[in-house]
Amino acid sequence: MHMQTRIEIADLEHWRAAVAEAVKVLRDGGVVALPTETVYGLAADASNPAAVAKIFEVKERPAFDPLIVHLAEASDLGKAAAVPRETAAVAGRLTAAFWPGPLTLVLPKSEEIPDIVTSGLPTVAVRVSKHEVMRLAARQLGRPLAAPSANRFGRISPTSAAAVTSELGGRIPLIIDGGACAEGLESTIVAIEPGEKRPVLRVLRPGPVTSEQLRKFGRVVKGCRVTDHPEAPGQFESHYAPRTPLLLFDRPDDFFPEPGKKYALLSYRGDPKDGYIDRHEWAGVEVLSPGRGKLAEAAVRFFFALRRLDAGGADAIVAEPVSEAGLGRAIMDRLRRAAAGK
Ligand code: TXA
Ligand code: MG
Repeated sequence: MHMQTRIEIADLEHWRAAVAEAVKVLRDGGVVALPTETVYGLAADASNPAAVAKIFEVKERPAFDPLIVHLAEASDLGKAAAVPRETAAVAGRLTAAFWPGPLTLVLPKSEEIPDIVTSGLPTVAVRVSKHEVMRLAARQLGRPLAAPSANRFGRISPTSAAAVTSELGGRIPLIIDGGACAEGLESTIVAIEPGEKRPVLRVLRPGPVTSEQLRKFGRVVKGCRVTDHPEAPGQFESHYAPRTPLLLFDRPDDFFPEPGKKYALLSYRGDPKDGYIDRHEWAGVEVLSPGRGKLAEAAVRFFFALRRLDAGGADAIVAEPVSEAGLGRAIMDRLRRAAAGK
């Protein structure tokens, strides 16, 4: 599988023309990398099983890992999901509050969504991106788009067109370059359940929409993802994993460098008070949010910094933890998975 990968720039003047190019490919049953506000997605016409199969092939993604479906508008929800009466009210409140935006809802799927999209599950993960390129592509195609992150399976999510090129260049015909992603972490995934008194919001993946923000809408509980299920142990590679091993310690003095090995540091704010930056002669350092440390800034730079360190040739990357509140929960989730090789 090798092809020429074309890149179209979607800047303020040319973004509609770039979307038109993308829609041509989508209509022909092809796949295109498109920007979203979270990470770049690899999109195909969700109603075309042969097109969706190309996503799995290009990403080397196992068939049991279902895709996210993108809509142009919240009012298109019925095209992808059959929202049950018991949860319609809370679903409506959530979509009104967060769409377009980085919240993905897991709901019973509509019959129009082929089984390959949901890996045979009776539910579908669905969202409306805040990025106009993704929304206009879905609107012009006139159908929902299936679009997981535009990386090879288990690898670091791409937050720039250059990152997509290094993941999928030569495998896809077109990348729409919409610049750097504004959020930098994948959407929050929430499964909605009716609950007894209040609806239950099961957070399957923490992300830019925080549990603190969700609490207004129901009882927030932690869930796990389809691919976390014990019946699939060791069947897939680590998630968000750099090729370089990533080490995460409870305390900085738990780090004992092995002689002769080169270590790089992924630092939160580059402050010696945090106990890492002066601890070792690091072979490379990336600081996520220099100064006082802002979680939103750290999120935007997170995958970019991880990708840089991964390319830097160290034997291991040491990551500083961030606080486990708000967006920090999403960052710690990615760090733990990268560290656990899971
Ligand atoms: O921000 C995002 O969500 C990005 C952009 C491109 O939209 N997409 C993304 O997709 O992160 P992906 O495929 O890398 O992650 C989707 C996750 C998978 O871990 C999958 O297991 C879960 O969503 N998922 C999809 N459908 C599901 C379902 N019906 N039930 C539970 N989990 C589901
Ligand atoms: Mg992904």
